[in-house]
Amino acid sequence: MLSDNKLLKTDFCVLTDDVVHNNEIFRKGGEILRNGGLVAFPTETVYGLGANALSEEAVSKIFKAKGRPQDNPLIVHIADLSDLESLVKKIPKKAEIIANHYWGGPITIIMERSDKIPASVSAGLSTVAIRFPSHPVATALIKLSGVPIAAPSANLSGKPSPTTARHVAEDMMGRADVIIDGGSSFFGVESTVLDATVSPLAILRPGAVTREELSELLHEEVVWGGGDGVPKSPGMKYKHYAPAAPLYIIESKDPVQVINSLSDEKTGVLAYGIDPSEFTAGVVFSAGNTPSEYAAHMFYYLREFDNCGVDKIYAVAPPPGGVGDAVRNRIFKSAGGKVICE
Ligand code: TXA
Ligand code: MG
Repeated sequence: MLSDNKLLKTDFCVLTDDVVHNNEIFRKGGEILRNGGLVAFPTETVYGLGANALSEEAVSKIFKAKGRPQDNPLIVHIADLSDLESLVKKIPKKAEIIANHYWGGPITIIMERSDKIPASVSAGLSTVAIRFPSHPVATALIKLSGVPIAAPSANLSGKPSPTTARHVAEDMMGRADVIIDGGSSFFGVESTVLDATVSPLAILRPGAVTREELSELLHEEVVWGGGDGVPKSPGMKYKHYAPAAPLYIIESKDPVQVINSLSDEKTGVLAYGIDPSEFTAGVVFSAGNTPSEYAAHMFYYLREFDNCGVDKIYAVAPPPGGVGDAVRNRIFKSAGGKVICE
């Protein structure tokens, strides 16, 4: 939290189809970033809360604004492949193959940190997580700032990641200097985090770029980090993605019957692969029919449940594999382990 309770005057800027207007917002945003301020901006995964990654003071503002534990490292964002070289000690061959194939795009690669990046960005680790987003607003801002940008998801620590500027504003009004509204995030789930300092390469957080796709590209098995089949990153040990009401995962052959038997008008349901009209609960949101649709909608609806005043939430889980792994990882964390199997 902001320790001195001093609120900033946050500028909420909406992008339009007027290029001159937008360019002026990017120019101002870039300047604020370069000078040590905080700018929340859209990416193709979720909204980020950016600061100059080369400035310890700027980066400390991120931790304060989010109420983020100091031992949870940040991702450094770049907008040009040539920016990578000075930020890491070396670029492993496999990391290069993946970067060439997927950047700009929703994958973050962990490499050995160079001395250019302050230790506090990486929470004291010898590594650094680097991401080159594809979203044109993100890349324009990074380029205009002239510095690499440290950016976690733009939510208060513990809450679901924001996929719209309105959800950013719910958490970051008074905490960021600027919020840029560039519409809904495309993937809706944070980037895949891949550790390229280990062999075989390990996924620490599943995302839109899947383990299967990475294994195929490298012609070798990419594994789950942590050694026990569970993706692990410092951030993953904290309470995460939690709506205000308790959330339960339903793993059942007949989720409609199980959920309807437990529901009343104050119950929320996140349906998947089922016609939402089959549920009797008070608030029913449909996460679609494919794991990618689920990923795109889940954080949005987890936050909207808070605005609907439900007192419990049941979520139907997609099967494991592909993008389903990213969805399951997030909703299981959001449920804090509460699973109903019937
Ligand atoms: O899609 C995304 O990655 C978004 C957008 C804004 O780019 N950013 C994002 O950042 O999700 P954040 O801070 O919410 O999540 C970063 C994750 C955390 O789980 C953190 O522990 C892990 O990446 N991480 C960062 N640096 C790491 C490192 N050096 N070693 C291991 N894990 C690291
Ligand atoms: Mg986050």
